[in-house]
This record gives sequence, structure tokens and C-alpha cells, in this order.
Amino acid sequence: MTAAHLTARRAGPLRGTVRAPGDKSISHRALILGALATGVTEIEGLLEGDDVKRTAAAMAAFGAGVERLGDGKWRVEGRGGFSEPADVVDCGNAGTGVRLIMGAAAGFDMAATFTGDASLRGRPMNRVLKPLGEMGATWLCKAGGRLPLTLKGGNLRHIVYTLPEPSAQVKSAVLLAGLHAEGGAEVIEPEATRDHTERMLRGFGAEIEVREAGAGRHIVLPGGQKLRGTRIHVPGDPSSAAFPLVAALVTPGSEVTVVGMLLNPLRIGLLETLGDMGADISVTNVRDEGGETVADVTARHSELEGVEVPPERAPSMIDEYPILAVAAAFAAGKTVMRGIGEMRVKESDRIALMAAGLAACGIGVEEEPETLTVIGAKRGNHLVGGGAGVTTHGDHRIAMSHLILGMAAEEPVSVDEPGMIATSFPGFVGMMRGLGAEIGEDQAVR
Ligand code: S3P
Repeated sequence: MTAAHLTARRAGPLRGTVRAPGDKSISHRALILGALATGVTEIEGLLEGDDVKRTAAAMAAFGAGVERLGDGKWRVEGRGGFSEPADVVDCGNAGTGVRLIMGAAAGFDMAATFTGDASLRGRPMNRVLKPLGEMGATWLCKAGGRLPLTLKGGNLRHIVYTLPEPSAQVKSAVLLAGLHAEGGAEVIEPEATRDHTERMLRGFGAEIEVREAGAGRHIVLPGGQKLRGTRIHVPGDPSSAAFPLVAALVTPGSEVTVVGMLLNPLRIGLLETLGDMGADISVTNVRDEGGETVADVTARHSELEGVEVPPERAPSMIDEYPILAVAAAFAAGKTVMRGIGEMRVKESDRIALMAAGLAACGIGVEEEPETLTVIGAKRGNHLVGGGAGVTTHGDHRIAMSHLILGMAAEEPVSVDEPGMIATSFPGFVGMMRGLGAEIGEDQAVR
């Protein structure tokens, strides 16, 4: 049975070497492109979190052969396209899963009904439906473009689409639909977002052109392309590695190394920001693995300084602001995070929940529509208090961030719904305990 709460309390230094779980973004894409392709795709290092398992089940429902061969080793036999699923496709908590699969499914003449858990059913799908509608897809959905939703695809036309918000999910949905659109698709992104779809499409043999011009990055995908099955090695997820690394930075005496972490230039905003804050982080053994750069990253306890995070950095660290806010709580001075309105439409309203959680732990915070400011406690005699029970609204990153805070705060910190951590980081608690953290299932702090 999953515990109702988890509580983290201050213990000794954190020390050791760990491997981050497989990258969530790349894992979803590997399964989806594998199912769209013709032939076999062998995947190693797949993240076996709940979100990705939902995508694996969805790919089987759309007609692919999907088989788990062992720890992180999966085999997908693609049939060169999707067939109509027999039942509703439930994507659980996964925004990336449902949005990318809707894009892929729109290319085929069939109807598919999608749903998800309460959090996913509350999230906006209009951002994906708008371009898919322009391409010719139709749908029936709950008010405000919410799930459950039935999408009818096929006979798509060419689109040139400028992203209104920096979203790799929307970009990817349009590109995946474009694979089966007359004349393909062109996406223009004024701000660059993670480019795993573009890289992986090439790995599956697709022709795709990316050029910088005037208004931003133009991604041009000619239509009518066939994908061929391939081999994929999934690197360690920087969004998950962020938790043990920040835990080491804020816990005195600590030194933690994460091996095999993805260092894609569009995913390293947190490392840059922590560097600006004076974090002692070293990057070694930089290497290329399957078209992506990976490295081993070591973090040692550091006296951090508050910073202004450049807003243009937001797309390269959008999932890392919750844990950055924790690092900021232990820093000297203010950390100002502007231009992060997208945080409000993630698995929860992450600006509101981080502001509430940090305030409950005695940290000074200011919340504005698109900005979060954290007043670091390490000035004079102020310490990070802790001593709170935090409501996570079932958001895995809100839960992990507050547990890390509890590992270095004066008093323990509890989080509810800890089972949700498994959506992205199934081994989180075991890994952190292995490094020396004290996390228990005791009575929640109130
Ligand atoms: C993701 C893109 C981001 C990110 C999410 C994963 C992806 O979402 O927050 O966790 O894999 O494309 P948006 O595209 O909505 O910014």
C-alpha cells in the first residue's frame, strides 16, 4: 500500500554516486515514434514511471507490438501507422503523453477518445487542438478544450504554425501530425524549446530542416514520410537529476554525482542558474550517446547567492523552477523568477503551490501572475524553518521539491500523495535514502 504521507528530516551529509532515471520526454517520444515507424525499435534506459507506462499501453492500443524485455529494455514493433483503438485511451497524469499522442493520432482516419486523471482532465488541450483543427482534425470535448475528448483525424493539410507559447509539446504534436499531412508541417518557435522530437525524427530516418530566421526557429517537416525502426538509448533525465543535485547543494558536507545525465543545450537552464548562484558543480566525462550529449555531474554543498533568473531561460528549465525555489530558500538574498506563467498550467499551478509550501516552511515569498520571488533565509541568523505539512495536489515535482527542503531544514517537512512521485521518478525515495537522506512514512507534520 502506498503511504498517505512522506516526511523528510535533517540527517547527515548526502554522499554517493547515482544514475538518474531515463529522460521522460525522450521516453515518451521513443515509444510513440517506434509505434509510428515500420519495423522494430529497441529502447534501452526507458523511464519506467507511470506516465511513460501509460504511453506504452496507449501505443499497444493503437496497434503497435509493445514488449518489456527487462529493466528499462523495451521492444516496439511499429506497423507504419496507428489503427483505431478499441477503448478509451487513458493517459493518466501525462500531459506530454496525451498531447503528443493526439498529434500522432490526428494523422489517421479514425476516432480515438482520450482521458486522464483529475489533474490531466483539468489541463488545457486547446493549445494542441487549435493547430490540429487548422490541419483538418475535428473533435468533441468538455468545456474549455478539456478531456475526455474524442479526436477524429485523417486527410490533414499543410500548416505553418507559430507557437503562441513556448511549448515543446505543442511543437511536437504539430510535427507528428505533419508526418501524415499533405505537404507536411512547418513550426515556427519564437523561443527555442526542447528539440528531442526533431532529433529523434532524424534518428528514425525522417527528413527535417531546422533553421534560424527572423522571428525564430523554423522547423520544416516535409509530408508523406516513412519512419524506420531504430535503437534508442535514453539518457538520464536532467529534470530528475535536479533533485539529488540540489539536495547536495543545500545539505552541509554533501557531495553527490549523477552519472549519464542529459546535457541537451535546451535542457540545462537549471545548471546555468545554479552556476550563477555560486553552486560548486562540476561536469565531467562529457560524451555523445545516440545523438544527445550526456555527462557526469557532481554537486557539493555550497553557499548560494540569490539571483535574477533571465526570463528567456524559462523554456530550458520550466520543470526545474520548483526545485530552484528550494535552492533559493537556502541562498543569501532574493531570487527572482520572471516569465514563468507556464508553470501555472503544469500538473498543478506550480507557482501557487511552491509559494504556499515555502511560506508554510517559514520562507519569504512573493507571488505574481508570472513571477515567483523567494527571499533566501541564509542571511544573518535566519534559517530555513520547515516544520510544515505540504499539500501537493498530486504533483510529483511539488512533492519531491518539498522533501528535499525537509532534508536540510530545521524541522521535518511532510508531503501528501507521495505515490504520485512514481509518475516521473519511481526510485526517488530509495535513491535519496541510499545517499543518506532520512525519509519516513511517519505521521504527517501539521
Ligand atoms: C515536455 C515539455 C514541457 C515540459 C514537460 C515535458 C515535453 O511542457 O513541462 O514536462 O516532453 O515536450 P510544455 O511543452 O507544455 O512546455
